[in-house]
Amino acid sequence: MNADTASQLEMRKFVAPEFVFGAGVIELAGQYAINYNARKILLVTDPGVKRAGWTGAVEQSLKKADIPYVVFDCVTPNPKDYEVMEGVQVYRKEQCDVIVAVGGGSPMDCAKGIGISSSNAMHVLSFEGVDQVPVPGPPLIFIPTTAGTAADISQFDIITDTVRKVKIAIVSKLVIPDVSLIDPCTTITMDRHMTAATGMDALTHAVEAYVSNASSPVTDLFALDAIRLIRKHLLDAVEQPTNMSARENMMLASLFAGLAFSNASLGMVHAMAHSLGGLLDLPHGECNAILLEHVVDFNFNAAAERYVDVARALGLNTESLAGGGEKDALVQSISDLRENAGIRPRLRDLNLQREDIPALAENAFNDPCLATNPRVASVEDIQGCYERAY
Ligand SMILES: [Fe+2]
Repeated sequence: MNADTASQLEMRKFVAPEFVFGAGVIELAGQYAINYNARKILLVTDPGVKRAGWTGAVEQSLKKADIPYVVFDCVTPNPKDYEVMEGVQVYRKEQCDVIVAVGGGSPMDCAKGIGISSSNAMHVLSFEGVDQVPVPGPPLIFIPTTAGTAADISQFDIITDTVRKVKIAIVSKLVIPDVSLIDPCTTITMDRHMTAATGMDALTHAVEAYVSNASSPVTDLFALDAIRLIRKHLLDAVEQPTNMSARENMMLASLFAGLAFSNASLGMVHAMAHSLGGLLDLPHGECNAILLEHVVDFNFNAAAERYVDVARALGLNTESLAGGGEKDALVQSISDLRENAGIRPRLRDLNLQREDIPALAENAFNDPCLATNPRVASVEDIQGCYERAY
């Protein structure tokens, strides 16, 4: 048996929620609430999504279905433990029994936390780790409005522990929503910067899932196709916000990357980005966008064949590079994509102070995403990567 066959026969599980993809599916929110026999909905969202009009669109659909609801919009980027617990209070007080989330990763991750904390009567931080959720939460109906986080697909729930200043990962099938209504039209209100940052987050999901120690032939399919789609459509989506074909393809890329990383997990980029988000509340997509090229440079030799596949999916002619040029070409191509999307190159551009780096490296070292990174990394290795990205 050759190595390839052996790895394909290793036990791997693949989970995904029901999802409906297409223009206008946001209007199905009310119908799905009826399907789940909702008595009262907790509608989790944030002020930006409200301003963009998507919360209102979901409210219309719920009104049409004659389902009462209460809006909870106290969610910030890198959603905090106390925001989740505030949501639990509202959920209980209003006697809700179904949760609808509309927005990017923050409202969706907050909604996941509210669901499991309510059903288990436990604090959200007590679910940290893999399969630590005893009882399922109420039905979750998710409507993503960014093309990147894929929190509507994944079995990850990332919440900031505001006392320890770290992001904890709750990994459980019980945080996968019951249905995701993926409407590419909702991404049209994202500005240039958010389109770029969320798109680079999706690229990071796909690359990290593809080189992950827990990848499988099934996750590989989705990861590589996500990378191809992002190469073709990210810059059009950034430069032409109303280009529906670009928006649709980026939403598809986010979905594919989500299916890949939810099942193959992530790597050192996310470990380092979680640390930056937890300690300093820095924006997730932008952190990933800056770190990705540096981590590829660090990891490359530990998974060279896999990274050559990534390079090919990014459109590089790897034949002509054979003999050692692949790594530099791949790093350059990721760097060019980030640059062309308008994301600044350095962590210092995000107001990071150099003296924070040792603490950041410690926290990243303890992040569960590091377990599937293709190269074993020490605290010093991670510190070196932060330094190079600084
Ligand atoms: Fe991410």
